[in-house]
Amino acid sequence: MTFARICLPRWSFSLALAALLAGCGGGGPAGTADKVSPASTSIAQPTAADRVAVGETLFHDPGLAANGSQACASCHAVANAHADAAGGFLPLGGPLLDQQGLRSSPSLNYLNGNSGFRFDAQGQPVGGFTWDGRADNRADQSLGPLLAAKEMAHADTAAVVRTLRARPAFSALQFAFALPASATDAQVLQALQQALSDYQSADPDYQPYSSKFDFVQQGRTAFTMQEARGLALFNDPRRGACAACHTSDAAVGQPAAAFTNFGYFALGVPRNSSSATADPNFFDMGLCGPLRTDLAHRTDLCGRFKVPTLRNVALTGPYFHNGAVATLEEAVAFYATRDIDPGRWYPTVAGVVQRFNDLPTAYRGNVTQQAPFGQQAGDAPRLSAQDASDIVAFLRTLSDGYTP
Ligand code: HEC
Ligand code: HEC
Repeated sequence: MTFARICLPRWSFSLALAALLAGCGGGGPAGTADKVSPASTSIAQPTAADRVAVGETLFHDPGLAANGSQACASCHAVANAHADAAGGFLPLGGPLLDQQGLRSSPSLNYLNGNSGFRFDAQGQPVGGFTWDGRADNRADQSLGPLLAAKEMAHADTAAVVRTLRARPAFSALQFAFALPASATDAQVLQALQQALSDYQSADPDYQPYSSKFDFVQQGRTAFTMQEARGLALFNDPRRGACAACHTSDAAVGQPAAAFTNFGYFALGVPRNSSSATADPNFFDMGLCGPLRTDLAHRTDLCGRFKVPTLRNVALTGPYFHNGAVATLEEAVAFYATRDIDPGRWYPTVAGVVQRFNDLPTAYRGNVTQQAPFGQQAGDAPRLSAQDASDIVAFLRTLSDGYTP
């Protein structure tokens, strides 16, 4: 991690961290909680920074998997905004690292504005972690990959804790969470989950706000003509209409736009060809299951997946929950032509284009027709090929690490 980032003065680690936790610039007496009183200087007290640091170590530790060779960071690569490592399709895991997962690994950046899953005042689903929102927070979520047979593949939580107790970072975890030598498995597991969560929420690498878009917002540089056209199309409700779901201004309490409203929609993305889809009767339907089980009766929600952030989207291919689309150009083209040229996206069987073929026929009506969708074959496109490349040019300004 590095601290030469916007809005973080180069104070001590814990002060910088406290300022970040207080919302970047909140400052004031933040950090006092970490001050060590003179009477206790002989016994070091753990700080929030210690919890983040051990979380970082454990996140990158391949020894945390049952087979000793897969870390959280294996699927959430630092260089790819903590999404899939470059060039991948769906992640492989399990004891021999040969089991294909169901879904693409999302970026873990810019999730601090997210909350637990709920239905909003209009009855629309929002919030939650993973593509179907089945984890309420990052701590809950972290047990998922540790126990998933096709990921880090531990048999049960006791096996996770047994492995953890033998890792070099275990003593740092004990210190950071003040675990007694007699700590129970439940206490150790909770500390692990909290450390992984604290790391993702407090380490500036997860929310650097250092993209060209941010520089432009701060008046420190300007978009090219093409990027500016792309942003206008992105925001225009009659053209790209992207911002209706990928919010392009800052939510209340957030330092800048997250490019997601954390809502859920069925886009009808094409079926991929993976080990799961080899079975023609298998469908990953997002909110209504099968990975998520509590909304199985809500067939009106079948096919809906969480709106991902578009920050760093140029670095996070392949695209959509099932990785069915390889490039950013194609992902934008899907929005522009799904309805006017469906034959481009779906297979044709006996002369009939199989629209929305990754959903059972009964649920294809759930697919959103909201703009930019909702056109008929043969309509004039809402977005031309030039418009689509302008939007791609704009999306490329959302990659962090911009240097003017
Ligand atoms: C084998 C690859 C793999 C490994 C290893 C892995 N993940 Fe993931 N991660 C994924 C996939 C795939 C998803 C999407 C899961 C879904 O939607 O069901 C995901 C989702 C997440 C999310 C939710 C993000 C969001 O937008 O809601 C978080 C947080 C996360 N992972 C953290 C971790 C942590 C912490 C670890 C280590 C304990 C880890 N992951 C290990 C592949 C992986
Ligand atoms: C109605 C809401 C909605 C609108 C409007 C919308 N999106 Fe999305 N977007 C989503 C959802 C939901 C997903 C994830 C769908 C899935 O994986 O099944 C998504 C995924 C994406 C992805 C893939 C990201 C990734 O990490 O895999 C890209 C790229 C994208 N959108 C770009 C755009 C652009 C560009 C526009 C405007 C032309 C747009 N979106 C308009 C809801 C929307």
